[in-house]
Amino acid sequence: MNTAEFKFQSSNKSVQNLSVTWQTPSNIALVKYWGKSDPQIPKNASISFTLNNCHTTTTIEFSKIAKNENAQFELFFEGKKKDDFKPKIANFFERIQEYCSYILEYNMVISSENSFPHSSGIASSASGMSAIAMCLMSLEKQLSPNITESFINKKASFLARLGSGSASRSIEGPLVVWGKHAKIEDSSDLFGVKFPYKAHPIFENYCDTILLVDKGEKQVSSTVGHNLMYNHPYAEQRFLQANNNLEKLTEILQNGDIKNFINLVESEALTLHAMMLTSNPYFILMKPNTLEVINKIWEYRNENDSNICFTLDAGANVHVLYPNSEKTDIELFIKNDLANYCQKNQYICDSVGLGAKPQ
Ligand code: PMV
Repeated sequence: MNTAEFKFQSSNKSVQNLSVTWQTPSNIALVKYWGKSDPQIPKNASISFTLNNCHTTTTIEFSKIAKNENAQFELFFEGKKKDDFKPKIANFFERIQEYCSYILEYNMVISSENSFPHSSGIASSASGMSAIAMCLMSLEKQLSPNITESFINKKASFLARLGSGSASRSIEGPLVVWGKHAKIEDSSDLFGVKFPYKAHPIFENYCDTILLVDKGEKQVSSTVGHNLMYNHPYAEQRFLQANNNLEKLTEILQNGDIKNFINLVESEALTLHAMMLTSNPYFILMKPNTLEVINKIWEYRNENDSNICFTLDAGANVHVLYPNSEKTDIELFIKNDLANYCQKNQYICDSVGLGAKPQ
């Protein structure tokens, strides 16, 4: 695998102090990534919608210091020092220092906040890691002014991937593919690329309402989760199926075949959970209310000839997906009915967005 293009070439530019802020989005996979090999190489290609309202805002203040052996940083989350997040970030910096040697020459004060409630069960690693990656690329741009915007996005995705696989899909939007796939030109296991074809207008401003069914800590960390796919009896079939599903979805996204979209997306969500049900150790990540909500969605769809559907992450929360044209009716259904299955009736209305924004 050719990673040479991502290695920073030392320059004669010098930057003493720099403060940069980026807002980067969360994303929701339609075809799921579950299973990887070292270093963060996915076993199958995946595709996601970039979200608009669920995002992380991160500022990094860089101050030049004498070169160290390890990255020097402090971490603040929502205004408070967060030493328990430090090992994960330290590990991330260790992985990327080969590509961003300059990080060893700066002290970094990292301050982050999420737009979504803390411990809501919404994965923050994708937006969190992509925000740090974009901040680093802003410093790199100062050190190496000739790098292009497209290289910045590509390398940011490459770096974010080394922090959390799905973070590679949290730089651009509205649809991002990560993982080498024969039907997606320039797709790569190393970084995410924008879906290269024109999506049908039905997918414009597509809506995603996240029902906070269970705000508890994740039962399975994603490291443990991905490892469950080693020696999993269905692993090889699953990886093939995901790549086939991405091929089908590539067509569906262009021709607007919404019924097949719904079928494929719900099947992907249930398959992800089926992988956890059939691994050893095994996990049930849905809660009773997850199932209640799924049944309600199916009932509503049948009774109203609607195009509402759902997807799931590795947790109990439900992402309710629907075309913008059905927003008014479906949001009423969510407010009056589905909200009753959420903790403290909480849910987040979101829609598909365009990616990272400088602040
Ligand atoms: O990025 P990770 O390592 O946290 O894995 C996330 C995997 C899923 O969210 C369950 C699926 C996906 O493709 O986003």
